Amino acid sequence: MQIVTTVAALREVIRQWRQTGHSVGFVPTMGNLHAGHIKLVSTAKKQADKVVVSIFVNPTQFGPNEDFASYPRTEQQDQEKLIASGADLLFLPAVTEMYPQAAQTGISVGSLSGLHCGANRPGHFDGVALVVCKLLNMVQPDLLLLGEKDFQQLTLIRQMVADLNIPVAVQGVTTVREDDGLAMSSRNGYLSVEQRQQAPKLYQALCKARDDILAGHDDYRAVAAQQCQNLQQAGFTVDYFSVCRSADLRPASASDANLLILAAAKLGTTRLIDNLYFSKT
Ligand code: PAJ
Repeated sequence: MQIVTTVAALREVIRQWRQTGHSVGFVPTMGNLHAGHIKLVSTAKKQADKVVVSIFVNPTQFGPNEDFASYPRTEQQDQEKLIASGADLLFLPAVTEMYPQAAQTGISVGSLSGLHCGANRPGHFDGVALVVCKLLNMVQPDLLLLGEKDFQQLTLIRQMVADLNIPVAVQGVTTVREDDGLAMSSRNGYLSVEQRQQAPKLYQALCKARDDILAGHDDYRAVAAQQCQNLQQAGFTVDYFSVCRSADLRPASASDANLLILAAAKLGTTRLIDNLYFSKT
């Protein structure tokens, strides 16, 4: 696996691949890699000749009181995992390489960026859209792989790619979970032993809400409110718990068939997010 830290070096490697007709898959990450990230890489490997992974903890997507400074940085272990996964090129830019000066251009993906996580993290999705757009312009891949774990992010990037005619195919990859159902996340490492035992209840609440809906409960607000209450009783502070249409992440009504339940909740100061897709048909 080659490692480059500058945009110029990245472009040179990819230029050579393109000359020999190779297709390119791209997996953007913020590092502290786990099996969820690695599944994106292995999925990319099956579909593209060469796979580029970026590790960049992007300051523009963190709020002033969020964990940018303390976000886990585990470069050595990440590199070993990427070598084992068969990644071809790791792009590891410094903040000054990605943002040589403060960007004057912003990307805001309409009202989608203000919903759900966007309501609690103002500016977050503008930062995500900006960095992913920049990375896509740098790598110019054929295929972009993103996790369904961050379903709103995936939906928003699909919208950006369509709106801006970015020539890339976007593929979502199903969420990788721990044996007890907890969605893998770099932030799970912040949990205390006790909180880690509570954490799978978030996924259990999503499953329970789905089961209630499939059993015929069609007052989705009531279904969600019930699970919010269960989570609060288990010690979570719930940011949102919402039954949505999977296509546009707007509140679902009983006539919608393809549903996505989205939730974010805190255990102590650690914010967990998860979601569950299902179809009523
Ligand atoms: P990060 O949280 O490092 O996630 C990188 C990619 O891995 C995202 O597409 C995310 O959805 C996916 N991912 C995370 N946990 C997963 C899991 N348990 N199963 C499957 N996929 C999982 O998301 C970001 O970084 C950033 O916002 C980024 C897109 C890199 C822009 O800075």
